[in-house]
Amino acid sequence: MHPHLFSKIDVGGKELKNRLTMAPLYLGYARAGGMVSDLLLEHYRLMAKSGVAMVVVENSTVDHPTGSGSDRTLRADTDENMEGLTNLAATIKAQGTLACLQINHAGRFAAIADPALAPSAVQVFGRMPRALTEKEMRRISKKFAEAALRAKKAGFDMVELHGGTGYLLSSFVSPRTNKRDDEYGGSFENRQRFPLEVVKEVRSAVGNFPVGYRFLADEWLPDGLKLAESVQYARSLAASGVAYISVMGGTYESFFLPDVLQSSRKEGYMVYLAAAIKKEVKVPVIAAGRIATGAFAEGIVAEGKADLIGLARVLWADPEWPSKVKEGRESEIIHCHTDCDETCTKLITRGKSAFCVRWPHDKLQEWKGKMV
Ligand SMILES: Cc1cc2nc3c(=O)[nH]c(=O)nc-3n(C[C@H](O)[C@H](O)[C@H](O)COP(=O)(O)O)c2cc1C
Repeated sequence: MHPHLFSKIDVGGKELKNRLTMAPLYLGYARAGGMVSDLLLEHYRLMAKSGVAMVVVENSTVDHPTGSGSDRTLRADTDENMEGLTNLAATIKAQGTLACLQINHAGRFAAIADPALAPSAVQVFGRMPRALTEKEMRRISKKFAEAALRAKKAGFDMVELHGGTGYLLSSFVSPRTNKRDDEYGGSFENRQRFPLEVVKEVRSAVGNFPVGYRFLADEWLPDGLKLAESVQYARSLAASGVAYISVMGGTYESFFLPDVLQSSRKEGYMVYLAAAIKKEVKVPVIAAGRIATGAFAEGIVAEGKADLIGLARVLWADPEWPSKVKEGRESEIIHCHTDCDETCTKLITRGKSAFCVRWPHDKLQEWKGKMV
């Protein structure tokens, strides 16, 4: 059943046993302050046990608090969390699954930073971020490299740079949020300069260790980054030696717009973006976004729209998704469904730990009891 989906693939010199990955999903399970918690370990043990080939752990900050999305954002910026990160990597790998850590600077969306830091002072949700100086940018680039090195030392198999969601790296590429008049702003060539410098610095720090990239293909905003430009950026990234490109669309400023909300309810709503990037590059491409059924996922890989599938809420709602698909038990899948009114997203934006209202009653009660 689904021969393409359950075939092996090489990514950055590591063998993935099938085409299924867990896409990064922040759920507010780390302890307040960003340290690895028992709840987080239990969550990732379940995700790794699911049968996916690789788990990409949620965004982890490279610089706290200015780079952190929230107070529960995992810390990759300090050796104080090394023991936790080491346990996390070991927990995932104990299930025969590759472990990848996503590292991030939240930039203008760093909720706990005051002021937030960004390429330019462009207002966001009523707050005005401060434009970074070149000296500060060089420091952040180093912080990315240090965090990547921490991931390697902690035993992760790969690291992923978060270049999506409108966070710092993507906000440099966007003409909407980058209004700089130095060599890091203006032309497309200049706007891609800083994130490419970060990739270079990270790669030279970690040596022979795969560095993936979460990629913003389209901001879905009238004056935002568009696919026509982002495909060129994908080519530059591939040339810079990233191990894979994991494609997504939208930022916090577009996710909740009525038409975006509507279109992101459809199965495979971001696959067209991955397919457009896949045409441009030779490195493996991951597609995500409500990839709900085995046949649909198989089609994406078989038709060459992407090499790998990223499952985020889909896998969290039902950690048995991969085995149910593999064994032809699809009718038993518990589907992530929009009729819950995006409860998980609402919980985390209120600073709470998330639960899925689709979970069976007993699991829901058990997990709610574990949350603080
Ligand atoms: C609550 C929530 C948290 C997320 N956290 C991250 C994250 O930390 N890093 C990231 O790159 N994407 C993140 N995403 C995006 C997912 O990786 C994924 O692209 C998206 O949810 C679509 O896949 P799905 O329909 O399987 O959930 C998040 C999405 C949601 C809904």
